[in-house]
Amino acid sequence: MAIQLERIPSTEALYERAVTIIKEVKAQGAKTFGLATGGTMEPLYAKLCDTTIDFSEAVSFNLDEYVGLGATHDQSYNYYMHHHLFKQKPFKQSHLPQGLAHDTQQEAARYEALLNEHILDFQLLGIGVNGHIGFNEPGTSFDSVTHVVNLTPSTREINARYFASLEDVPHKAFTMGVQSILRANCILLIAIGESKRNALEALINNEYIEDVPATALTKHPNVIVLTDLV
Ligand code: F6R
Repeated sequence: MAIQLERIPSTEALYERAVTIIKEVKAQGAKTFGLATGGTMEPLYAKLCDTTIDFSEAVSFNLDEYVGLGATHDQSYNYYMHHHLFKQKPFKQSHLPQGLAHDTQQEAARYEALLNEHILDFQLLGIGVNGHIGFNEPGTSFDSVTHVVNLTPSTREINARYFASLEDVPHKAFTMGVQSILRANCILLIAIGESKRNALEALINNEYIEDVPATALTKHPNVIVLTDLV
């Protein structure tokens, strides 16, 4: 199996390991980084900001963005990335889908075309309780490219912790597709916390089912999974 699973019960040590992997990938010449948001990534970005790592010659692509939230909205992923990483570790160029784009289909196509002009040397992933990667919710085709997704009620409820109320959570998001993600040369997925156990088990048991989007990774040749779950 292509997945390299590392179980590291100490989250402190786990994040240190993630930083080491990113440094190694970069030292090997990686210039294009796929990035994720979410609670899992906050300590990682904080640790990266404490290093001397320099991304000023690198390009980043984020996985996803809420439809309807602009860069100045404090729950947009654009805002998140500036707040947690870019303001301290700027990249040469950073790309995210534009949450306020009027024509969402056109914006998804624009983002996918931009992605196609690059090869992602590295892709960072979290995992949803329901097994989503990016915002590819259960049932998404493994052939999907960047698209607009209707967020599931469970994803909206889980993400409501960051918003004033559930009603404020957008119903739609842009996300790189499963196929867009799989094109990356190297993937690092971080799964922390008991709530991720079922999704993680499906992945490490080598299942390959669209009902658990993360299991698409079982066909990728170079995936590292870091988890605190033992
Ligand atoms: C965010 C993303 C999502 C999250 C996932 C886990 O850019 O792509 O797939 O990685 O929802 O979120 P947390 O880390 O908040 O549990």
